[in-house]
Amino acid sequence: MNRFVAQLRETLRRPRRVLNLLDAETRRAFFAQRRLESFVHAAWTASRSFDLSGVGYGRRHSGNPSEISTKPTTYYPFLAGVAAHTGATAVIEIGTHWGGSAVALMRGMLSRHPAPLLVTIDVSTESDNYLPAQPESRFIRKIVGDANDLKTVEQVRALMRKADLVFIDAAHSAKPTLLNTFLYGLLFKPKVVLLDDITHNESMRAAWAVLRAIYPYQSVDCATIVPAIRRRQGFGLIVLDGLNN
Ligand SMILES: C[S@@+](CC[C@H](N)C(=O)[O-])C[C@H]1O[C@@H](n2cnc3c(N)ncnc32)[C@H](O)[C@@H]1O
Repeated sequence: MNRFVAQLRETLRRPRRVLNLLDAETRRAFFAQRRLESFVHAAWTASRSFDLSGVGYGRRHSGNPSEISTKPTTYYPFLAGVAAHTGATAVIEIGTHWGGSAVALMRGMLSRHPAPLLVTIDVSTESDNYLPAQPESRFIRKIVGDANDLKTVEQVRALMRKADLVFIDAAHSAKPTLLNTFLYGLLFKPKVVLLDDITHNESMRAAWAVLRAIYPYQSVDCATIVPAIRRRQGFGLIVLDGLNN
């Protein structure tokens, strides 16, 4: 009995020994979660070095649609932080709206590289209200079209063959979001995919459940780690660098 107690004490004194008691699957999940958590914390820490005041969302989608927001949304600093943390030089964004998120991403990219490229896609031309007047716009190419239309995909491929990061913030329903993720993920082989609004509605929750099932060790809702990134709506991260080298 005394030997058992001594062994137990020794095991608890060294947390890694406790991990050895777990089965391989649980251990893998534990270390994967730790890697994702440290990625999110590192990007969130990096985001603090960016002053995004004045980088606005533009016309609001919820509430009063005639109201124009000149403030960054909560995930803009995180976008800049992820771009900087990953050293991204080539980014694809699906869902431009006015272009606030594209400018935030570009600020992060420019902190590490003098001439990066961001291609942003939207069915609308609303970014004409804002994006061309931003100094970062000379590094940004806007494509007007449905991101899942193969003609649009060809237009993106004419500008960029490989992306470091893909940010998806467009249709907010399962099928187009999943198709965005598979098409752009497989074709442009990003190190990282970010998805806004993964808990916004039932359809997006279902899409995120599919992605979690495909990438159980590479995906996390960043808002469960740092809630300030995106309270309520969720913000998905899929880290593919081990798969897409
Ligand atoms: C929530 S807004 C994007 C907000 C922007 N990313 C930001 O954070 O500032 C979603 C945008 O996706 C666009 N969109 C919806 N479906 C699309 C599709 N199939 N292809 C391209 N853009 C699409 C909409 O026109 C809208 O401007």
